[in-house]
Amino acid sequence: MKRVSFFISIVMVMVLLTVWSVAFAQKEGKMSDAFSVIHNRKSVRSFTGDSVSKEALDKIIRAGMAAPTAVNRQPWAFVVVTDRKTLDTLAAGLPYAKMLEKAGAAIIVCAIPEKAHDKRMEFAVIDSTCASENILLAAEALGLGAVWTAAYPYKDRMDVARKALNIPQDIIPLNVIPVGHPTGTDKPKDKYKPENIHWEKW
Ligand SMILES: Cc1cc2nc3c(=O)[nH]c(=O)nc-3n(C[C@H](O)[C@H](O)[C@H](O)COP(=O)(O)O)c2cc1C
Repeated sequence: MKRVSFFISIVMVMVLLTVWSVAFAQKEGKMSDAFSVIHNRKSVRSFTGDSVSKEALDKIIRAGMAAPTAVNRQPWAFVVVTDRKTLDTLAAGLPYAKMLEKAGAAIIVCAIPEKAHDKRMEFAVIDSTCASENILLAAEALGLGAVWTAAYPYKDRMDVARKALNIPQDIIPLNVIPVGHPTGTDKPKDKYKPENIHWEKW
């Protein structure tokens, strides 16, 4: 009898150890996944021309909306474009967004000062920038490529986006983010510079 209960105890300890180590490994795995997405993200400007699924775009936008936002005001909106004609119109009007010609989609992150904390334009832009970074990271996580191309603060570029997409005058088109399948030529840059870190004080 003693032998049986000893055997059962050993088995239980082994099961517990296995469960604990699997859980720990998964936790570690998830952590390194986040870091690999952050460090592998790059501006992708070379696309295959293939379309991007609505499901993927929905996941990317949801990630955008998960961003931090001052006083939780969420002063943003997202125009998602998959129509080839509209993508080409944007490419023609935006000199630094020619990669739209081969992108499968574009996301235009819009900042809404009226909705922002204190109705401040700065908070609308800061919060929408946080959403934009989440969008860039989500694209990378899905094996897609994306690049921030500037609309704000250039009036001429914002006008191009407003006109092509019917965006009202009081809404700021912050950027135009082409999204697509990367050809693989764009690589992440190592921007780690220890001289940019000031431990404890400047
Ligand atoms: C505010 C802002 C504006 C940018 N505008 C453009 C742009 O108009 N066209 C473009 O090709 N890339 C643009 N970029 C992407 C930068 O060129 C790119 O992030 C930078 O070279 C670092 O490369 P990486 O994103 O691959 O790390 C912009 C990035 C930011 C943050």
